[in-house]
Amino acid sequence: MDLEKATDYIAEIYKETDLPAAEDYMARSGLEGPIIEDEIARLFKVLLKLMQPKRILEIGMNIGFSTASMALAVKEFGGRVTTIESDPDVVEFAKRSFERESVADSIEIIIGDAFEVLPEIESGSYDVVFQDSTKRGYPKMLPDCFRILRKGGLLLVDDTLWPVMRVLGASDESNKGIDEFNRALLQYNLESTILPIGEGCTIAVKLS
Ligand SMILES: C[S@@+](CC[C@H](N)C(=O)[O-])C[C@H]1O[C@@H](n2cnc3c(N)ncnc32)[C@H](O)[C@@H]1O
Repeated sequence: MDLEKATDYIAEIYKETDLPAAEDYMARSGLEGPIIEDEIARLFKVLLKLMQPKRILEIGMNIGFSTASMALAVKEFGGRVTTIESDPDVVEFAKRSFERESVADSIEIIIGDAFEVLPEIESGSYDVVFQDSTKRGYPKMLPDCFRILRKGGLLLVDDTLWPVMRVLGASDESNKGIDEFNRALLQYNLESTILPIGEGCTIAVKLS
């Protein structure tokens, strides 16, 4: 199958329903932020509507496209997104976007380094954890991602096919980190798979 053609076709079919769109976020921000693709935002929306989580933790907010998309999906059930971001320069743009999308009240931003913030988070306290921060850090953060997820919770991880997709600008260290993460994930009591959409997206359910 020609994955690129399939992606374009899906984008064409869904173009009127994609609000907000990744492209608009990028254009408005003027920042370089690599953000999730629209098809990943749609996947998350479907999963979140199905699961109706109350507490979502995102690691890596950047300009806040994924943050706003998830908050919009869970707002009607009273769901909230907490997001950890180490770069203070992206926060003002993200905050303005959250106001514009009317989701500011559903989002808490923690400005800090996830390596320091994650160990402070209570075990089992989140329904969903979305990892999209430093690719080199994925393996090191995995034990905390698993620990803070409740049983039956959902772990979402972006960019997990970088090692085979030869992504422009991806360093060897990043690819190595993701490969290590993908293999380490299998040691945890999770049911998981990697979907070949965007640049690869892992979805995993915590079994115990
Ligand atoms: C790929 S971007 C996130 C994109 C965002 N999730 C989206 O799709 O709209 C990764 C972000 O993770 C942040 N980041 C990298 N390492 C981090 C760390 N150790 N702690 C917190 N944030 C980190 C970067 O500053 C960057 O803004």
